[in-house]
Amino acid sequence: MTEHKLAIVILAAGQGTRMRSATPKVLHRLGGRTMLGHVLRSAESLGSDLVRVVVRHEREQVAASLEDYPGAVAVDQDDVPGTGRAAQLGVDSLPADFDGDVLVLSGDVPLIEVETYQSLLDEHRGRSADATLLGVELADPHGYGRILRDGSGMVQAIVEQKDATAEEAAVTEINSGVYVFRASTLRDALRRVGTDNAQGEMYLTDVVRVLREAGGAIAALAAPDSSTALGVNDRVQLSEATRILNQRVIRRWQRDGVTIQDPQTTWIDDTATLAPDVTVLPNTHILGATSIAEGATIGPDTSLVDSEVGVDATVRRSDVTLAVIGAGATVGPWAYLRAGAELGDGAKAGTFVEVKNSSVGAGSKVPHLSYVGDSEIGVGVNLGAGAITANYDDVAKHRTVVGDHVHTGSHTVLIAPVRLGDGAKTGAGAVIRKDVPAGALALSVAPQRNLTGWVEKNRAGTAAADAAERSRASEKATDGEQQ
Ligand code: UD1
Ligand code: CA
Repeated sequence: MTEHKLAIVILAAGQGTRMRSATPKVLHRLGGRTMLGHVLRSAESLGSDLVRVVVRHEREQVAASLEDYPGAVAVDQDDVPGTGRAAQLGVDSLPADFDGDVLVLSGDVPLIEVETYQSLLDEHRGRSADATLLGVELADPHGYGRILRDGSGMVQAIVEQKDATAEEAAVTEINSGVYVFRASTLRDALRRVGTDNAQGEMYLTDVVRVLREAGGAIAALAAPDSSTALGVNDRVQLSEATRILNQRVIRRWQRDGVTIQDPQTTWIDDTATLAPDVTVLPNTHILGATSIAEGATIGPDTSLVDSEVGVDATVRRSDVTLAVIGAGATVGPWAYLRAGAELGDGAKAGTFVEVKNSSVGAGSKVPHLSYVGDSEIGVGVNLGAGAITANYDDVAKHRTVVGDHVHTGSHTVLIAPVRLGDGAKTGAGAVIRKDVPAGALALSVAPQRNLTGWVEKNRAGTAAADAAERSRASEKATDGEQQ
């Protein structure tokens, strides 16, 4: 005998025709994880070391997605269709002497939390039932299998939508697609399940009828709320599930001390982390592995993906991906921080500023209309309005290195590779092609010449020439008076 008490079989082999997608259904994402990922994560926290995922449709893709869950093993389904066949191959893949409980989960029912799985197991063990399923009352049960009970309230069978009579279809208690069985009971029952139904498939749900007919006891636990049991078969249900998950995630952070002004327009992935006293303003997306430290204010109209935001930082109306924002730094409005952008503590990336693969030192400012790419900017730097790093020469990307306390004049172009020493300055409009030594002022624009009277002479009769003429006449008159 092995000492395992619990095995988990996750059904994920179906095609998911109703998604109308090149991506297998169970790999569609919500809240920063695939549907299957959500199921696996809950399964993982049950602590079973026998986790099987039954695959067939787009088998390679689905199996590859198991990488992040080292305990999970893919099992291939054959030509026989249906959830019953999938469960059978799953349970057959367990060690032959395994006779603990088998928790069967659906890869397309992503919102059930581990506590619910645990209650289902407790219910099953407490009642010594032959099978225990998770049911739920739905106002609109269409599409789900209905739970049929006899006069005394005992579960008799599950009937699928396509096989249901009008009377059966009127039942509002549905099967969520999550069950617990004793392994040997499930093996035996599945041997007696055929494919004589509307879809010509082996239904796992038929196990209930088979067990009941043999005098077995079937228990049903009611799911804590109807939204948990939502099965995702099409994109409408996917968006419903996404909204429910988002609501759940938002409430969790609100209870942990995060101010979220408008939950309706705020989207936070299940994979992100927020500290207490973070403030999230409307129309904000906090996605992927993003983490936000205490006191930071994010939004409105901001998207953060796989990024890190420091204590008390502010990010307004900006798009931030794979970037690190230091404590007290300010970003936006309308900044674009791309992969590898790192703002030091108290630094600023202001309006219409794009930063990519660059570090901006503590207290340094890039306030207006700039592109900073492949650069290393020191501390206390001020890149004047319109600073551009020209990092690409059609062949390769080159680096720009700016020392500490450098100040560039407006509209400076830094043609990489180039280096500005500590304390250096550039004049307005400078095009910097050569290194600037520490403390030097670099000017690359020719001295200004004013060609007096040029407009009157060369553009005679234009409004500009007339205006210039009037202006110079009145200047002369004033000069005359003064003399
Ligand atoms: C199934 C249940 C239904 C329940 C609903 C809950 C059956 C017969 N019906 O219906 O009672 O109310 O789930 O959401 O079980 N799969 C395989 N191999 C297959 C077919 C399906 O692994 O050959 C997997 C799918 O990938 C999916 C899960 O099993 O993850 C459920 O299959 P699906 O076809 O979506 O079943 P439903 O019609 O939703
Ligand atoms: Ca389904």
